[in-house]
Amino acid sequence: MLLVVLVLLLPTVSEACGDPPRFNTMRLQGAPKPNYRPGECVQYECRLGFKPKVPALPRSAVCQDNNTWSSLQDACVEKSCPNVGEPANGQVNFVNGSALFGSQVHFACNPGFYLIGAKILYCEISGDTVAWSDNLPICETIVCAAPGNITNGRVTVYKEVYQYSEVVMYKCNPSNGPDEYSLIGETTLICVDHNKWSSAPPECKVVKCDYPIVEHAAIASGVRRKYYYNAQVVFQCHDDFYLHGSSIVVCGANGTWEPELPKCTKEAIATTTVSTTSSASGFIKSCLYLSISFKFLVIF
Ligand SMILES: *[C@@H]1O[C@H](CO)[C@@H](O)[C@H](O)[C@H]1NC(C)=O
Ligand SMILES: *[C@@H]1O[C@H](CO)[C@@H](O)[C@H](O)[C@H]1NC(C)=O
Ligand SMILES: *[C@@H]1O[C@H](CO)[C@@H](O)[C@H](O)[C@H]1NC(C)=O
Ligand SMILES: *[C@@H]1O[C@H](CO)[C@@H](O)[C@H](O)[C@H]1NC(C)=O
Repeated sequence: MLLVVLVLLLPTVSEACGDPPRFNTMRLQGAPKPNYRPGECVQYECRLGFKPKVPALPRSAVCQDNNTWSSLQDACVEKSCPNVGEPANGQVNFVNGSALFGSQVHFACNPGFYLIGAKILYCEISGDTVAWSDNLPICETIVCAAPGNITNGRVTVYKEVYQYSEVVMYKCNPSNGPDEYSLIGETTLICVDHNKWSSAPPECKVVKCDYPIVEHAAIASGVRRKYYYNAQVVFQCHDDFYLHGSSIVVCGANGTWEPELPKCTKEAIATTTVSTTSSASGFIKSCLYLSISFKFLVIF
């Protein structure tokens, strides 16, 4: 009884080849069978995107007597996509070194031009062959529309359209009031890309900082009657006083001194609690102001 079972099982187990080998470029023609008897043959065809090698190689394998498949190699190669060409005023880069199925091409425009369309094309399956994923892009001339007009200022040469790398320059208008306008931001803008300027237009506004008063200090340089944007002042503590903070401050766009005004104290190390009565410091401030005003009168 056992012998009968074994005799029935043996041929199916041992007298059969396993699954037919798989290939990157070829696939089995027709549906695979659960098993193959010695002498049976399988046919392969090229996968989509591939075509037979030239000269042609065998594309069939046979189940041999020892239940192994006869040896077979990939017999197909990638199909080639059509010639893409080069866009006018641009270049094409075959990043994979070819235009074969599965490869990409990258496009770039020459300086002064910008790309419209797909920057990257893929050689991919299209129907029963291969084709580029998109049309060839085009390289168009870069121009910039006029940058924004600003209040209290103007561009020196106004045009509706500017060329690539052309520069516009802003100027603040003369003010009608006692204080001139300061230009905050970039004076010049460059057309760097299509409708793209190197920065936002500047602002023209009155920026004034308070007269900088630091107790126990003299202004070493930068004495002025009014302090506008970017005015710089250098302080020097009186003898026997130590500087805390920056000796150089600049009138910032905010109308505040940047960094904050320094302090001059008797102590070399800043004390944690500095409390001076406001009336006393107010008195010193006005004294200092008067003395500086006096100096000013003497100089002029
Ligand atoms: C099976 O037979 C073929 C030819 O008859 C031979 O080339 C191959 O080496 C054999 N394989 C094994 C595993 O014995
Ligand atoms: C083609 O090149 C790109 C970029 O180097 C890479 O990511 C991609 O895997 C390559 N494709 C093939 C098929 O070699
Ligand atoms: C900006 O100012 C110019 C004159 O300098 C003028 O011709 C143009 O119309 C203004 N543009 C806008 C949007 O107001
Ligand atoms: C401008 O001033 C405000 C407070 O008045 C401050 O919070 C801000 O940091 C200042 N900006 C700059 C750039 O200094």
